[in-house]
Amino acid sequence: MREPAPPCPRGHGTYVKSRSGRLLAFEGLDGCGKTTQVERLAARLSAAGHDVLATREPTDGEWGRRIRARTLEGERAEPAEELRWFLEDRREHVAREIAPALEAGRVVLTDRYTLSTVAYQGARGIDWRTLLAEAEAEFPVPDLVVLLELEPATGMQRVRARGGPREAFEDRENLERVAEIFRAIAADYVARIPGSGSTDAVEVAIAACVDQRLGLPGFP
Ligand code: TYD
Repeated sequence: MREPAPPCPRGHGTYVKSRSGRLLAFEGLDGCGKTTQVERLAARLSAAGHDVLATREPTDGEWGRRIRARTLEGERAEPAEELRWFLEDRREHVAREIAPALEAGRVVLTDRYTLSTVAYQGARGIDWRTLLAEAEAEFPVPDLVVLLELEPATGMQRVRARGGPREAFEDRENLERVAEIFRAIAADYVARIPGSGSTDAVEVAIAACVDQRLGLPGFP
């Protein structure tokens, strides 16, 4: 078993004092399978003896609840207002959960994080490169982002099949723009994995990627 790679040396953001843990974010279009894959990777890492925190954004905190309530109503706030809500939610999330976990040496898996803001709020007309630069300056930069790639039409079909009331984020043209920004982001901490395979195949591809990129012990 090889030594784990050292934690990401940069990008502690304004919240983390010392960072002995690891931060892995899962990103992609609605319906790409992130939520299931976070659960699967969390189970694998826990079985290998890692102390895992699995979490998500929008969170269940005050801002996250406000975002969800708005989505359920099928409404969208103005882009700048919507951006502010997602950022407030993330500030609370990082300060209360992610930073303490990273300081305690835990492996944090988050279902959506900064790149969702870059892609989704970028798709609403806010300059995505600025959003990315601001995110990297303020928040802990992930050691790895697993970006599950999927055609927008396939994602939409999957979301419809599970019957969620998600109209506000489901517009096809909007999702095409989101996908385009996800494709354009060039950051060395992003690993792109096709999300179109079977759940088991995607799980194996992610485990291999985590092993290769982070060298977290305990993987085959
Ligand atoms: P999602 O992960 O699909 O939440 P749920 O747990 O309700 O399934 O996220 C809800 C929507 O929020 C999704 O369409 C993407 C959007 N979103 C943004 O627009 N910006 C952000 O910063 C985040 C975190 C999510």
